[in-house]
Amino acid sequence: MSKIDKCLNIEDLRIAARRRAHKMVFDYIDGGADDEKTLAQNSAAFDDLELYYRVLSSTDTPDTSTTLLGTKIDVPFILSPAAGNRLFHHDGERGPAKAADKAGTIYSLSSFSSVSIEEISRLTKGPKWFQLYIWKDRGLVKEMMDRAKAAGYTALILTVDLPITGNRERDPRNGLSVPPTIGLKQIWHGLQAPYWCWDYLTKPEIRYANLSDELSAVSLQEYVSTQLDPSFNWDDAQWLLGEWGGPAVLKGVVRADDALKAVKTGFKAVAISNHGGRQLDTSPAPISCLPTIRDAVGDSVELIVDGGIRRGTDIIKALALGADAVSFARPYLFGLAAAGEQGAIRAIDIMVEALKRDMTLLGVKSIKEIDRSFVGKKGS
Ligand SMILES: Cc1cc2nc3c(=O)[nH]c(=O)nc-3n(C[C@H](O)[C@H](O)[C@H](O)COP(=O)(O)O)c2cc1C
Repeated sequence: MSKIDKCLNIEDLRIAARRRAHKMVFDYIDGGADDEKTLAQNSAAFDDLELYYRVLSSTDTPDTSTTLLGTKIDVPFILSPAAGNRLFHHDGERGPAKAADKAGTIYSLSSFSSVSIEEISRLTKGPKWFQLYIWKDRGLVKEMMDRAKAAGYTALILTVDLPITGNRERDPRNGLSVPPTIGLKQIWHGLQAPYWCWDYLTKPEIRYANLSDELSAVSLQEYVSTQLDPSFNWDDAQWLLGEWGGPAVLKGVVRADDALKAVKTGFKAVAISNHGGRQLDTSPAPISCLPTIRDAVGDSVELIVDGGIRRGTDIIKALALGADAVSFARPYLFGLAAAGEQGAIRAIDIMVEALKRDMTLLGVKSIKEIDRSFVGKKGS
């Protein structure tokens, strides 16, 4: 049994990632904004919910498949987009893309990826979505969408909770930049992360693969504040949907009125998300926003929930409260940082096994059977 297979849950993978990765890299994945209250609450909010399992109705082979924006997937989760995966391991986005394909689900590629739109497209036959930020240069926005369309990405995710970057204090403390600059602090931390350093020094350097070389950022914060457009609004979103011409997800919503505006604007799905607690601190946990948003939008739009999902029971709670699917980033990023592609695969395997086990324990044979009757507030 390999070391990574001994990791039994996502927290084990997190610890393995902390052991292998450079401190600035681990903190970039693990950290959140300000006092990290939202980061903590994203997971803690699941603890306030309890599962009312049903007896004498189980099967040991539950059907975990479902459909999202018309695509059949084998599990009710997809991979949330995440920037710059080469920083974590030289496999970069290739690792999670292959892990998603193996699990029969959708991989979402960040526009800040370190492997190109085209390479990820060629890597697997599995379904892929492309995540977009809004550059001031609309020519670049259009060019990225055209490339994603040509490469066969079937849906666009427009992330709108990052008009500027959140105040992630771990990053400047560690002196994080992309590509990393190496000073005394980095060398000191590097001595405690020899595998990461060897990987970093001997493999091709990190770059934002979808941007021209001269645009490569020194620090994400600096790059975002000079290049992205914080004034992008609902009218612009409508323009964007026209340019894309296919199904699109609005990612980063926590309010019912915004979800309703998304439907009116023409988005086919809404991702209830606060960017994993990395943007506005003290914003609510997505799982807490879900029931109100589902009640407001009815069946008019598909809902995806991300933030703090670490267990099969978390997936079930979200589905029970009305999500069509969930997604997550840190679980597979911890796996990637711990052991490259094999680590990302291990993370997804853990989630799939947990979901199947928990569906059997819950007393359901398929995803369709999971409804609000299975979930209640603690003590209710
Ligand atoms: C290291 C890292 C990088 C991220 N990069 C992006 C990104 O490029 N685009 C995006 O829409 N969201 C990005 N996110 C947010 C995730 O897509 C997702 O919303 C969030 O991480 C979900 O919370 P979880 O990590 O607790 O599962 C990133 C998250 C992390 C941890």
